[in-house]
Amino acid sequence: MPPTDTPQMSDEGTLIERPLPPCNIVIFGATGDLTHRKLLPALFSIEAQGLLPDHLKIIGFARRDYSDHSYREEIQQSLQDFAPDLWKDHQKSWTKFAKRIVFHRADFDNPDGFKWLKERLDKFDQAEGTGGNRLFYLATPPSTYSTVIQNLGVAGLTKRDGEQSTGFTRIIVEKPFGSDLDTARALNTELKNVFDEDQIYRIDHYLGKETVQNIFVFRFGNALFEPLWNSRYIDNIQVTVAETVGVEQRAGYFDHAGELRDMVQSHALQMLALVAMEPPNSLGANDIRSEKAKVLRAIKPIDEAECTDCVVRGQYGAGKIADKAVPAYRDEPNVPKDSVTDSYVALKLEIQNWRWAGVPFYVRAGKRLPERVTEVNIVFKDIPPILLAQMNTDEAEPNVITIRVQPNEGISMRLGAKPPGQKMAVKPVDMNFTYGTSFGQRIHDAYERLLMDALLGDASLFTRDDEVEAEWGLITPILKQWAEHQPAALSSYAAGSWGPDDAEKMLADMGRKWWMR
Ligand code: BG6
Repeated sequence: MPPTDTPQMSDEGTLIERPLPPCNIVIFGATGDLTHRKLLPALFSIEAQGLLPDHLKIIGFARRDYSDHSYREEIQQSLQDFAPDLWKDHQKSWTKFAKRIVFHRADFDNPDGFKWLKERLDKFDQAEGTGGNRLFYLATPPSTYSTVIQNLGVAGLTKRDGEQSTGFTRIIVEKPFGSDLDTARALNTELKNVFDEDQIYRIDHYLGKETVQNIFVFRFGNALFEPLWNSRYIDNIQVTVAETVGVEQRAGYFDHAGELRDMVQSHALQMLALVAMEPPNSLGANDIRSEKAKVLRAIKPIDEAECTDCVVRGQYGAGKIADKAVPAYRDEPNVPKDSVTDSYVALKLEIQNWRWAGVPFYVRAGKRLPERVTEVNIVFKDIPPILLAQMNTDEAEPNVITIRVQPNEGISMRLGAKPPGQKMAVKPVDMNFTYGTSFGQRIHDAYERLLMDALLGDASLFTRDDEVEAEWGLITPILKQWAEHQPAALSSYAAGSWGPDDAEKMLADMGRKWWMR
């Protein structure tokens, strides 16, 4: 192993700043969907790149009746099902990976299972060289978070820095982090009863996406944009998170959550914060997060009177996605026939600070939309019409910078150019940068990056308590409005369309439109 402060190159040519430390990773919810679809494929991919340290164990904690052997078999199957390309190319890494995995059969509400966990981890530290380092991952249904956190505390597994002679203890908490401001605050309090803030890693997997991180680099790594990044030049900013999938088999969770909680509270608001924040003093986790929290707190809360003009709530009816008929939300498995849950939401937000005064931020997120696309559009002000009027053209468009988070990750700029010919005219053209062609490298899954960061103790891509509370502070009054006035505020849209007409109207009333290339 190279010295601990030397950058390490993966077998695929990805540079990581330091080798990953030895560790016991304990996954609560080891038999759940997230573990099978995301966490274990991410860890297997890190293994396949040769980046997992020799002394690292993965302990699956769940109540089902598995042995180490049968749990490993199940994981092998889910790698084949959920990460077939990874599996095909890297099967040879399986033997080493499988040896790391053990199953810990215990109930979340039985303190004895946690006591036994502690004994096992201590043993691994001795026998396997895991160095006293512990990374807990809460991948259970949120209703069990509190019990697991308390039992970790009771078992003495939550040592704060300084309380343990060797090693670190960290906890990754999956979203949803609470379901409104009160529950998010209560969860923060519970966590902080037993952990310090810098041991807590609240995950928003969008922050692990390369292109979301690139919003930051694009803004602060180029002299070109920052001088224009304000209300003097920018007319409006739009964040779109569109998915073609519907509620799938997740009605049990989603019908209680809805799109505002599921996609806006976390992913869309985090992207908005990166677009709108002030430059941080440093790249340190706390400097970046302080700036994000500051801008999130500057978003004007939407009060009762504004809810109708600034919020659109929709639910999909039957329709077609890629020519295939799909059912209405209320006809999906396990969705109540009278559900008023939002599968689409559009918001008009206002950031009350010097930089953004008067610039609307439009955010929309929806399921069963015609394309899977996540992008941010920065729409610049119209140029003065003086010369354009003389060109007698109706094709002029404002400049738009599009940051495409997925798919076809990249950035494009819409400019006006003169088409060839004698006539003086202006036509919109796009200048494109795509990750695929410029870097020619596979873009890593967000969970890979985030798991590596948590092992390395870098919390910059995880949200802090004040950020999460600022997000919920904005979302909770809207949820209350809906609860009081439902179902009046629910618009319907056909699956495969771009959402309710009201969302188009919200922009059209101001002479604007949603941008989409
Ligand atoms: C999750 C939401 O956080 O993000 C899901 O709970 C959503 O409803 C998913 O489908 C989208 O993630 P991605 O990475 O596929 O855009």
